[in-house]
Amino acid sequence: MKAAVKTAIVTPRFYALGHLGTMAANAPRKILVTSALPYANGPLHLGHMLEQVQTDIWVRFQRSRGHDCLYVCADDAHGTAIMLAAEKLGITPEQHIESMRERHMHDSSGFLIDFANFYSTHTEENRKWSEDIYGRLKANNHIASRTITQAFDPEKELFLADRFIKGTCPRCKAEDQYGDNCESCGATYSPSDLIDPVSAISGATPVDKESKHLFFKLPEFEAMLKQWLDSDTLQPQVANKLREWTDAGLQEWDISRDAPYFGFEIPGETGKYFYVWLDAPIGYIASFDNYCQRTGHNFDEYIEPGGDTELYHFIGKDIINFHGLFWPAMLHSAGLRTPTAIFAHGFLTVNGTKMSKSRGTFINASTYLEHLDAEYLRYYYAAKLSNSVDDIDLNTDDFIQRVNSDVVGKVVNIASRCAGFLRKGFDNTLSPECAEPQLLADFIAAGDNIAALYEQREFNKAIREIIALADRANQYIDDKKPWVLVKEEGQNAEVHAVCSVGINLFRVLMTYLKPVLPAMAAKSEAFLNISLDWTALESPLVNHTLSKFKPLIQRIDPKQVEAMVDASKPTEQNTPTAAQQPVTQTKSDDDMQQAETIEFDDFAKVDLRIAKITAADHVEGADKLLQLTLDLGELGSRQVFAGIKSAYQPEDLVGKHTVVVANLAPRKMRFGVSEGMVLAAGPGGQNIYLLEPHDGATPGMKVK
Ligand code: MSP
Ligand code: ZN
Repeated sequence: MKAAVKTAIVTPRFYALGHLGTMAANAPRKILVTSALPYANGPLHLGHMLEQVQTDIWVRFQRSRGHDCLYVCADDAHGTAIMLAAEKLGITPEQHIESMRERHMHDSSGFLIDFANFYSTHTEENRKWSEDIYGRLKANNHIASRTITQAFDPEKELFLADRFIKGTCPRCKAEDQYGDNCESCGATYSPSDLIDPVSAISGATPVDKESKHLFFKLPEFEAMLKQWLDSDTLQPQVANKLREWTDAGLQEWDISRDAPYFGFEIPGETGKYFYVWLDAPIGYIASFDNYCQRTGHNFDEYIEPGGDTELYHFIGKDIINFHGLFWPAMLHSAGLRTPTAIFAHGFLTVNGTKMSKSRGTFINASTYLEHLDAEYLRYYYAAKLSNSVDDIDLNTDDFIQRVNSDVVGKVVNIASRCAGFLRKGFDNTLSPECAEPQLLADFIAAGDNIAALYEQREFNKAIREIIALADRANQYIDDKKPWVLVKEEGQNAEVHAVCSVGINLFRVLMTYLKPVLPAMAAKSEAFLNISLDWTALESPLVNHTLSKFKPLIQRIDPKQVEAMVDASKPTEQNTPTAAQQPVTQTKSDDDMQQAETIEFDDFAKVDLRIAKITAADHVEGADKLLQLTLDLGELGSRQVFAGIKSAYQPEDLVGKHTVVVANLAPRKMRFGVSEGMVLAAGPGGQNIYLLEPHDGATPGMKVK
């Protein structure tokens, strides 16, 4: 079995560069694609939609190139949070997850997400596969069992995960902090360190209680995982992050939870359930299984090792350990194929910060759809997405500007300005031959590069290429000035020729944009009376009759965006009371603190300087810190420990300029002496933004 799985790991990387130019001529690829299964305990928001839109564009692109590409997903329906939420609503968990699933499907379809199947993890298929895979892990002696001690809510009779315990921070004494970290001072600890801990569910004081748990023996997969991390299956940044886990030594993974729990009971045990993260990725298989049962599609060749099918998981960067370590190890043990690649993306921020309810930037998918067309956001996301795990910012002003200028002002403009002349003077029929064969050939030739960019998930670069072509098309029409020609004697044929070229160029552009803008593409197809087919661009449209031109998309009115933001702000009606707050919800990080004013002299005491980061390194044993070596020009070189590791890779920092407090008293830390402090903005975690001066600032310059 080991040999077979090894084959799967070294399967040629079909998605890599190489055969793209000839791809369409080759046999269609058989591709199965997933995006992460959203939790069934809340509505979808624009962060979820970033992932689904990214996946959907890639899937539609593959299909437009003639491949057999299926996109399956499901709701992640299990876990304590969902059980408690249902209880609060006075309904069964089954009722709760079913209504969530309906809402999720409705929102996704509003964003034109084309799932082949959207299923649920609480299904017979998933139970069967979870039991089956667990059975194989157990048979292979990859399951251990041992007794552990955990916090227990004696009132609710429930074991408490860290985030269900609250108390006073042992370090800064902030009250009401969750069991694993302090939102106020950033300390990390275990719940037993909290002062006066209470259950966030009942308020009772937790007691310690023993219970038997089952563990997946992850350390036995160290060699396999190291090979996997080196195999180009993951983005370099992701592989590096995961190597921190393998380097630190893998731990056995606790896969069981005690009753009461909403999930699948573990066969052969009593009162033990699979931990939600065990059966969640198996939900990918279950959803696809269900699809194949309904449609007769081949199932086995997608899950057995060694075949020629491809499997891709699109996920957010917060869940890479589950997909990049636990999941491949489980599949390996079970003798199933491992994914061809995992595609992780960064997090969505809105107007530069983490989505925030009070600012109205925590926007639900349904709220967006009440105010704006889905394709605006699909276009904007495409224009920003790359294949890296960098965060993506939705800047509302830039959003309006980009969509109006590119989509409406450039792309649609080509069709609308030509359509009028063709209707008035030429009976909606294109000229008998293409007057600019070279221009059209250039547009078609650009398709190879655009396809390669889509393939590599460099959507932002693909969009840039497409818009550059749109600029060329508009320039061509501007140069020819059909609106002047039409008034001149004997220029009728020229007007006809120019506008016919314009329509042909528009056809090529809309074909390239079809994966991003499927509804606009459908309207364009109705106007052009053809289907926009990437593999059939070679022959130009000549002597071809168009349908009546109807507006393809409206400009965004900034008022619509304002209304959406307003609707996303908490009101008295939609602000949950403390009792209704979901227990998993963390405290808002943007409660403004009222600051005292200071005199100028106080400010002048702070010696702020420009520094150049000449080296940046991880700090052995510190999970938040990076060690920076700074060049302060005339002030020499400094070593600073900065708590920015959650947001930066050291190698990305080297060479950057930033701002440092140069006269801060040196502070002795466990890892060495810190000789200053770099300045950064943001709430923390992945959202930390180092200040960076404009070009021209040099090391040692005073900041005032
Ligand atoms: N249920 C798990 C996934 C199980 S997959 C077998 C989960 N659910 S989630 O609802 O929290 O997130 C679903 C997906 O949305 C994840 O890939 C997550 O990274 C992504 N996003 C959630 N918030 C996001 C942003 N703000 N920005 C971008 N993606 C984000 O995790
Ligand atoms: Zn604290």
